[in-house]
Amino acid sequence: METLRVGVLASGTGSNFTAIDDAIGRENINAEIVVVVCNRVGAPVIGKATHRKIPVEILEHRLYKDRAAFDQAVAGVLQAHRVSLVALAGFDRLVTNVLLDRFADRVINIHPALLPAFPGTDAQAQAAEYGVAITGATVHLVDEKLDHGPIIAQAAVPVQPGESAETIRARILEQEHKLYPSVIRLFAEDRVRVRGRMVTVDGAEPSSDVLFSPPLAAD
Ligand code: GRF
Repeated sequence: METLRVGVLASGTGSNFTAIDDAIGRENINAEIVVVVCNRVGAPVIGKATHRKIPVEILEHRLYKDRAAFDQAVAGVLQAHRVSLVALAGFDRLVTNVLLDRFADRVINIHPALLPAFPGTDAQAQAAEYGVAITGATVHLVDEKLDHGPIIAQAAVPVQPGESAETIRARILEQEHKLYPSVIRLFAEDRVRVRGRMVTVDGAEPSSDVLFSPPLAAD
């Protein structure tokens, strides 16, 4: 099978970028990050990618007349690098059909909550304030609505009563760094099938584990 050519779109820290790149090397995933597209000058992800000798393209969204023009430029860069999977990793822009149409069912995102709960910014603070017992991380296909596309995989993270958004954030991030590479592997192995909102994974065992939080007492 051909090596999966991944383009990462990022705006900030880039810890998911690093986790994916590390996992590709360590876990023998048949994929390569061929370009990082960043919309913010000075974002830490730029230095991280450069250090790894991965090409970085800085496209400042504010220099384009609208979202469509920006996405046109982003899509052009991704196509020039022959990207076949686009992974949003802390990318702070909504994407439009200008990009999505060129990469149908091939644009994915990671969100720090169990969607459809807590979409948008500060999902960890929303979870802390709401008082949920379980939150987590979601990798989903991207559509033109915010944090809305079909769900590919989720990881649950229990929340302790009164826990701060910061500690929740750290524990979700730990799961994100495992979840995102595992989804990249599924694409590299061509095992992801999408029908409407339903995503199935070829060869996946049905999960038998149920997470209770707080743990329920035995009878
Ligand atoms: C992550 O929490 C991700 O779920 C959200 O933005 C954050 C990005 O972190 N979309 P990083 O830049 O990958 O460190």
